[in-house]
Amino acid sequence: MYKRITTNTLHEMKSKGEKISMLTAYDFTFARIVDEANIDVILVGDSASNVIAGNETTVPITLDQMIYHASSVVKAVKRALVVVDLPFGSYQSDPTEALRSAIRIMKESGAHAVKMEGGSEIGDSIDKIIKAGIPVMGHLGLTPQSIYKFGTYSVRAKEEHEAKQLIEDTKFLEDKGCFATVLEKIPSDLSKKVSKETNLPLIGIGAGNHVDGQVLVLHDLLGLTHEFNPRFLRRYLDLNSTVKSAIQNYVDDVKNLDFPNKNEMY
Ligand code: KIV
Repeated sequence: MYKRITTNTLHEMKSKGEKISMLTAYDFTFARIVDEANIDVILVGDSASNVIAGNETTVPITLDQMIYHASSVVKAVKRALVVVDLPFGSYQSDPTEALRSAIRIMKESGAHAVKMEGGSEIGDSIDKIIKAGIPVMGHLGLTPQSIYKFGTYSVRAKEEHEAKQLIEDTKFLEDKGCFATVLEKIPSDLSKKVSKETNLPLIGIGAGNHVDGQVLVLHDLLGLTHEFNPRFLRRYLDLNSTVKSAIQNYVDDVKNLDFPNKNEMY
């Protein structure tokens, strides 16, 4: 059992063949539960834009909003490594702005690392952030912040040239000094090829089992979200129905004067 998970721990786990578990969290209460369940990495994902703020994409969420979520999560966590997404617009324009955004996340939330979507096109920004002492996790394959460029959330890198580019980008991230990368929604055979070409810990979501770990969005795993049904998603609960029925019972009890009862009064 590892005490506090660091970026080095992930490399240690990879070299021992121990799989890395990663889940999102966006608030104190869930982060406490996720951490106590011994998750290795908590991602304060920009998927908060979808599951918390109700936006259609991850594009609108702001740096201030990410910092708000991240600081709530950090207060709850004793063991896991806390990684925070740099949101769209906070790092794409130039490396100095990227560094400024990453510094704000680290200083204002107390998180341990940032995650950025993209490969060689954001190389200068990755460089600057890592040189400032901030660990960076990459994110390749389906990169939701570029949804308007691609137009769909379909499986990525199915074509030969895209697969080649993804392998190159993974090696690029490793050379730059990233400590791990997410691979999202790519063919399992491609993950296998990537893992042969790099020592970077690879954390998959819809990327099969030839990777070093798995990540899911907490609200999907718990079955709070019903509308999102990709093949890669395994729901461990149907919390949507459970919560709804608890609330319906409460509503009935209030209407029928069953709540509060004698023992629930002062
Ligand atoms: O924002 C997020 O939740 C993510 C995961 C899907 C990897 O980036």
